[in-house]
Amino acid sequence: MAFPEGFIQELKARNDITEIISSYVSLKRRGRNMVGLCPFHGEKTPSFNIYTETDSFYCFGCGAAGDVISFVMKIENLDYVEAVRYLAQRAGMEMPDDNYDNSMSNLRRQIYEANREAARFFYKTLMSPQGKPGLDYLHGRMLSDKTIRHFGLGFAPDSWTALSDHLRQKGFSENVLTTANLSVKRRSGSGVIDRFRNRVMFPIIDLRGNVIAFGGRIMTNEKPKYLNSSDTPVFKKSENLFSLNNAKNSGSRALLLCEGYMDVISVNQAGFQFAVASLGTALTSEQAVLMKRYAEEVIICYDADEAGQKATARAIPILRNAGLGVRVLSIPNGKDPDEFLKAKGADGPEAFRALLEKSGNDVEYRLQKLRSQYNLSLPEGRVSFLEAAARLIAEIDSPIERDVYTSRLSKEFEIDKNALLTQINNLNARARRDHRRKEMRQMQSDLSGMTARTDAERGVTQRATAAEEGLVVYLINHPDSLSDIQRQLTPEQFTNPLIKRFYDYFSQRIADGLEPLNNITADFTTDEQARIYRMLHKHTAVAQTPRSLREYIGVITSESCKPEDKSAMSDDDINHYFARMRQDKK
Ligand code: CTP
Ligand code: MN
Repeated sequence: MAFPEGFIQELKARNDITEIISSYVSLKRRGRNMVGLCPFHGEKTPSFNIYTETDSFYCFGCGAAGDVISFVMKIENLDYVEAVRYLAQRAGMEMPDDNYDNSMSNLRRQIYEANREAARFFYKTLMSPQGKPGLDYLHGRMLSDKTIRHFGLGFAPDSWTALSDHLRQKGFSENVLTTANLSVKRRSGSGVIDRFRNRVMFPIIDLRGNVIAFGGRIMTNEKPKYLNSSDTPVFKKSENLFSLNNAKNSGSRALLLCEGYMDVISVNQAGFQFAVASLGTALTSEQAVLMKRYAEEVIICYDADEAGQKATARAIPILRNAGLGVRVLSIPNGKDPDEFLKAKGADGPEAFRALLEKSGNDVEYRLQKLRSQYNLSLPEGRVSFLEAAARLIAEIDSPIERDVYTSRLSKEFEIDKNALLTQINNLNARARRDHRRKEMRQMQSDLSGMTARTDAERGVTQRATAAEEGLVVYLINHPDSLSDIQRQLTPEQFTNPLIKRFYDYFSQRIADGLEPLNNITADFTTDEQARIYRMLHKHTAVAQTPRSLREYIGVITSESCKPEDKSAMSDDDINHYFARMRQDKK
């Protein structure tokens, strides 16, 4: 499957990478480039760069890299063909006539369609006589018909094959149904049975309005209480949130993070649209990064039971690391939001608003928890508490915030504020130093190519790899040097098989008169593509000259004559490399 080169070229020209990315990331200009907080991993200082020269992006933090097409693939969770279609639509371009769907793209499309049809079937069933137990159950949980419709809730009938039969009759294959996890293979014999039976159904809808999965609740005390779709080609539980499609339109700069489906739905019915739930898993950093795209702050609203409190403690650093402000809403009497609202009846919305206003930020919450662990009536207890509190406050990025808590504690415990503040600032400086060291190590290992990402690269000398990479980058930046290079080197002299493949690919394209980077999203895997951009930025940063080219060729020639040398780059080599880089930059 390949689109015509000219089509892809026009597609990229008409979809400015900076413009596309700026609708997801707020960007600042830095020199010729743009920088911002990476949308693919949690970070507080920007390491995500857009290079307008090569129309590409690159994150120094997580290594994500690519062009406008791969950005859309990654951020919207689309495959290649879907991303191309999306960008073509955006630019008002016709897709080329041929059927460009590859089998994966095709399968994903059919799964979306099967899911949508299943959601329709569940809803219709809920509203039919057969769905009476489900509708009674939902009414019993105080949901209005309007809410039921708004969330597209449904009912899976008490039958082995009702949905499977319905979808087969609509033309979906057994393979699509099982891959979508709507049906499962019979244990004995042939054919499939429904995965969800005799449950009220909650569709999970992504940000583009696709039904991507379901949760189904049993109406009795049987186990499991909730049955969820497993991961499928269109659904990864750890990367999605229930009801984010509603919450993102709430106009709020905060999101309310709940534990369950029913909490989110009740909170919505009470008039608060900004609730999401983490789909029955412990919160993941992917989910936190996703929330950061739509909010500045997250209010955690987990159950008041012990499990809920543990989950809260785990979620706080994950959210903070994604650059989100955090508050914690505590519900009195060990209730979850749904139970709270139900108990308050007509006063629910008002009472819930009061809780929201009272919700403290996470530092207050954690100080509160910490307090309960020490015996503050004893001097030793007070000292230990203050030491622990100092460590906690030292983690806060904002000096103003640090000052506020320090003041409060010094007043409460009648101690010298400056002494406490000094201790906290020292701890904070140490944490920052550790952080910088870690970043430096990461960068060094990136630069020296020690993060061999593909098996094929094991056992290749770093010196050779660095030179081979440098050469390929030089070639991309100076296509007219191809014949000069070919006179001095043969591809067989490359020792790193992956870089050799890149070299073969780019020299072929240049020989064919094609723009070297135009089609790499189609021609390489996501990892390989990121690898290409990584080396591109690493070596372009050194400002390559014809002298660099001669050096690359020299190293490649000498390395290719050596017997296999598996030793990695030594510390001396790395220091030398850095010294060289600094010199070249001048
Ligand atoms: N969950 C799940 N599988 C289970 C139990 C729970 O996926 N077997 C997830 C669901 O998303 C559920 C959330 O964890 O909504 C919270 O679980 P729990 O507190 O047990 O349920 P509630 O949301 O309170 O559900 P309900 O009010 O319907 O009892
Ligand atoms: Mn509940």
